[in-house]
Amino acid sequence: MGRSSKDKRDIYYRLAKEEGWRARSAFKLLQLDQEFNLFTGVNRAVDLCAAPGSWSQVLSRKLRSVDDAEVKIVAVDLQAMAPLPGVTQIQGDITKISTAEEIIRHFEGQPADLVVCDGAPDVTGLHDVDEYIQAQLLLAVSPKMCIFRGKDVTLLYSQLKIFFSGVTCAKPRSSRNSSIEAFVVCQNYLPPEGYVPNMSNPLLDHSYDVDFNQLEGPNRVIVPFLACGDLSAYDSDRTYPLQLDDSKEYQYTPPSQPPIQPPYQQACQLRKNNLLSKEDAPSASSSQNRDTAESS
Ligand SMILES: C[S@@+](CC[C@H](N)C(=O)[O-])C[C@H]1O[C@@H](n2cnc3c(N)ncnc32)[C@H](O)[C@@H]1O
Repeated sequence: MGRSSKDKRDIYYRLAKEEGWRARSAFKLLQLDQEFNLFTGVNRAVDLCAAPGSWSQVLSRKLRSVDDAEVKIVAVDLQAMAPLPGVTQIQGDITKISTAEEIIRHFEGQPADLVVCDGAPDVTGLHDVDEYIQAQLLLAVSPKMCIFRGKDVTLLYSQLKIFFSGVTCAKPRSSRNSSIEAFVVCQNYLPPEGYVPNMSNPLLDHSYDVDFNQLEGPNRVIVPFLACGDLSAYDSDRTYPLQLDDSKEYQYTPPSQPPIQPPYQQACQLRKNNLLSKEDAPSASSSQNRDTAESS
């Protein structure tokens, strides 16, 4: 594939490089903001599963322009990430209690205003996502608002409605229609009266063996689904000509910040040297970082 063919195929990939975002995912958060006005009044924000850092870039640019001294942004990822202005990095596992404690220490015990998480369920496994929601995020940092990537989260909606008065499933324009990906936006943290955040005693004990999609009536919470971002914005499933502006010649832009030691690096190296076994079926982890890998 030529260097510019990916630019042609994926308009958001190309725009991300041109505008200096580390990954095309940045547009997803920007478009979610257009709909939900995410950043107003936010001083303490957490970016979970942050590498290579495009969501942290958005947080840094959007929050820090208001009042630098007040603003605290923490980014957590298993992978190392190149530094960003005003963003404190924690290299750790979001499902670990020690990671949540580190975030709380950084906020000096104050609750987070906003938590965003772009970790794919097929990275962490749906169980892990649920685990972090319960053990780390809700029970630890008590955010006023949280956003995370999800799919097949019927059970989670019911649980989230216990903690947040507003729960919406949102699909930004930059998220391909062909992908099942959507984002769960939780607003207005309102835990049950007398509820004490407790990391070792989750509120609900559940089993994923039940088919929750079969439940009906009050036993199943259906949350609103919202397409967000300007509907006249670029369609992420379409191919656009390289020359969008007739008066300007197309110029290839390299990625603004390639990831540091990404998990797929070894596979790329093997493929380059023709050492990758052809029979191997694609693993779950190869799809998990697709957005990030594509940006590199
Ligand atoms: C799609 S990428 C996130 C892209 C990022 N939002 C951006 O805009 O640049 C998913 C990230 O989740 C991280 N991740 C997966 N499981 C994790 C875990 N248990 N703890 C911390 N990070 C995790 C991966 O290392 C990967 O960097």
